[in-house]
Amino acid sequence: MFKVNENYLKLPGSYLFSTIGKKVNAYSAAHPDKKIIRLGIGDVTQPLAPAIIDALHSAVEEMGKAETFHGYAPDLGYEFLRNAIAENDYKARGCDIAADEIFISDGAKCDSGNIQEIFSLDNKIAVCDPVYPVYVDSNVMAGRTGTYDAQKETWSDVIYMPCIADHDFAPQLPEETPDLIYLCFPNNPTGAAITKAQLQEWVDYANRVGAVILYDAAYEAYISEADVPHSIYECDGARSCAIELRSFSKNAGFTGVRLGFTVVPKDLKCGDVMLHSLWARRHGTKYNGAPYIVQKAGEAVYSKEGREQLKEQVAYYMKNAHYIYSGLKEAGYTVSGGVNAPYIWLKTPDHMTSWEFFDYLLENVNVVGTPGSGFGPSGEGYFRLTAFGSYENTVEAVDRIKAAKL
Ligand SMILES: Cc1ncc(COP(=O)(O)O)c(C=O)c1O
Repeated sequence: MFKVNENYLKLPGSYLFSTIGKKVNAYSAAHPDKKIIRLGIGDVTQPLAPAIIDALHSAVEEMGKAETFHGYAPDLGYEFLRNAIAENDYKARGCDIAADEIFISDGAKCDSGNIQEIFSLDNKIAVCDPVYPVYVDSNVMAGRTGTYDAQKETWSDVIYMPCIADHDFAPQLPEETPDLIYLCFPNNPTGAAITKAQLQEWVDYANRVGAVILYDAAYEAYISEADVPHSIYECDGARSCAIELRSFSKNAGFTGVRLGFTVVPKDLKCGDVMLHSLWARRHGTKYNGAPYIVQKAGEAVYSKEGREQLKEQVAYYMKNAHYIYSGLKEAGYTVSGGVNAPYIWLKTPDHMTSWEFFDYLLENVNVVGTPGSGFGPSGEGYFRLTAFGSYENTVEAVDRIKAAKL
């Protein structure tokens, strides 16, 4: 008789966004006349930039001719894309990362969920609280997190690093020493960023205690402040302690196209074993490469036209972020984020729980956001709004919230 992976049974409740979806569907079924504005899920809304569409079209044409047809992609990605990434995302920022340390994938969600499998089950993970849920859940599935305390909403074998207002939503070095440290900056959900000096402390710490930092920089394109690093490899010593995860979803609107990459420097070793070799082995065994046409579209992200067009796209979303941030502040809310990230993190008014405020906004102003408690216990009493809507909807949503201020 077969048995299931019992670790999956330990996962609590249903996924945050399915609960939101159910509540929103129930409300719209009961009130079909109401216009609901969704500033909840972190999906983009602007169409792909013309330079990307052109690259897709011409790659599709190539696929239709025997002379230019492409089958399986190379395991680690096409060189044209890995070179473009190495040049533009790393060398141009003074980071020492070679093209063969870059592994192309179909996005940062898969990579951030899969990366844990090259590490021993004995490793102890540390995560920010609140946090992008994939890091913890993928370790639960692997059996690395111990037992769940439903009251505290925490796992016995996970080190939580509360990211609270007193520290500008930045994590503090943990008291207990972790083996794997998940960091995400600019942060989802809080929208917080850390300076290069702050990140350097983490790199120094990881090198000192022999930990690996899994650095998720999916929102790097939204950084506007000069002292905020775009890559962890801007810090000295990061090559021996950090893996970086990147995505084309938010900088180029690839959420439905699917492209990302992971950087594993060859200096990152456990004894004589290079993590690079393990991830290459994993990639070669379990993954057959992002499609050629998508990797060509990814290359166009780095072209002159692509860069100009995407700068405008990011600016469009950041205009929304600014409108949300300043509008809510004017209305008396306590708000943060929105400066180096497309997320605004607000404190719920009148000691409402995150879900009470969710219901309040849905029912009174027909605006959907994301309850902060869905990202971890320290998110309770907070709420996330995203800047990924259209400008018109964003303005209408914020104006409705302002008019209905509690
Ligand atoms: C922190 C973080 N990492 C990764 C992802 C997923 O990126 P991708 O679309 O490349 O899978 C998201 C998506 O919302 C995210 O917020």
